[in-house]
Amino acid sequence: MAKKRDRRSTPTSANRNSRAESSTQRDQRIGSDSDRKLVPILVLFFIVSVAVSVIVYRFKYSSPTHSGESHSYGNQRDLVNADMNYQDVLTENSKVSENTSRRHYDYPVLGYITPWNSRGYELAKRFNSKFTHLSPVWYDLKSQQTSLVLEGRHNADRGWISELRKSGDALILPRVVLEASPVELLTKKKQRNKAINLIVTECKEMEYDGIVLESWSRWVAYGVLHQPSMRNLALQFIKQLGDALHSASERNGKQQLQLIYVIGPPHSEKPQEHDFGPKDLESLSEAVDGFSLMTYDFSSPHNPGPNAPLKWIQVSLSMLLGSSSNRAKSLARKILLGINFYGNDFSLSRGLGGGAILGRDYLALLEKHRPGLQWDENSGEHFFVYVDDDGIRHAVFYPSLKSISLRLEEAHSWGCGISIWEIGQGLDYFFDLL
Ligand SMILES: *[C@@H]1O[C@H](CO)[C@@H](O)[C@H](O)[C@H]1NC(C)=O
Repeated sequence: MAKKRDRRSTPTSANRNSRAESSTQRDQRIGSDSDRKLVPILVLFFIVSVAVSVIVYRFKYSSPTHSGESHSYGNQRDLVNADMNYQDVLTENSKVSENTSRRHYDYPVLGYITPWNSRGYELAKRFNSKFTHLSPVWYDLKSQQTSLVLEGRHNADRGWISELRKSGDALILPRVVLEASPVELLTKKKQRNKAINLIVTECKEMEYDGIVLESWSRWVAYGVLHQPSMRNLALQFIKQLGDALHSASERNGKQQLQLIYVIGPPHSEKPQEHDFGPKDLESLSEAVDGFSLMTYDFSSPHNPGPNAPLKWIQVSLSMLLGSSSNRAKSLARKILLGINFYGNDFSLSRGLGGGAILGRDYLALLEKHRPGLQWDENSGEHFFVYVDDDGIRHAVFYPSLKSISLRLEEAHSWGCGISIWEIGQGLDYFFDLL
């Protein structure tokens, strides 16, 4: 099963229904196998060393209102359970509460939608009111000779946007990936202004409510964030873009355009110079309306396992928020904790890999193999093991009502919003939790 990795390719009708894409940062993670082996050890170390501050933080700041609300997650059928079987999933996954407008998560909820999975567009319409922000993955800002171009208008679906706006209040913020050569862009004032102008103009012409910007991972990949002066310019650029969007008024003239910025989880307890850390969060907090934190893809085909262990999520949040003082509380509201609606099917034989799966792939595997679903207490995720037609063992990790509920509760206890990659890959009844 080949995994489609090149998410930069222009989506066509041919790959619209292709296999699941996961987050945008898969490739930027720790590179070599030996590094990968270090990850669990490092993570364990961070967990221990940060656990104390998590406990202190939660003790001091945890929201007392939440415990009374947790019963509203899910539904009355008692399906949010560590103990579940494949029949439950097969019979219940498409059933949702009658009222699809009622929200159960009271902080911001951002949903990503990809052009190569059309189910996301339908689910966005159906569960419109569950979202405060919807981000279709449409744009790339690229270098072209000595200038810049914003590509992706051909992806934009105006009919879909107007339908969404008729029936809900979710802000539409297309994602823009900054592909342009960072050295040129960051060091030349003219290029910076041009980039910002292209983005603001597109928002106005297409009546978007702002954008989600992804650039940090590119800049890391180019190595520019290792130099303090470039790093500084990078932060300046994000601020300048945020300010420009905020001073441009939106379609109805009432609201500002928003900037949501994509960040990765810190790679180590002591953040490296290229990691996005608590200081960056603070310095950008005025200019940026939300930070989409990519807490997924913890495991990989080289290192099969859960997609986003709960403890790793806690450690990531406490590294970003736990250390600072009272400001942390207000900054937490800007964090959109990443939750994956896709899963992974890993081959357990060496070198055979595996990769992301969609909800329908998961259901097909359940039907075919009728596996026993297991709850992994350590990671807070369900998984099962099956043997394929060639006798190869696989481990499948795919979200469940229980795993998602735990993450919603975690995010809620910090006062964070959430961001979902990507809604078309999930099962219908997941949306009941939002
Ligand atoms: C559905 O929920 C919303 C939000 O709670 C509420 O305003 C609306 O009246 C409900 N609709 C029905 C048909 O119950």
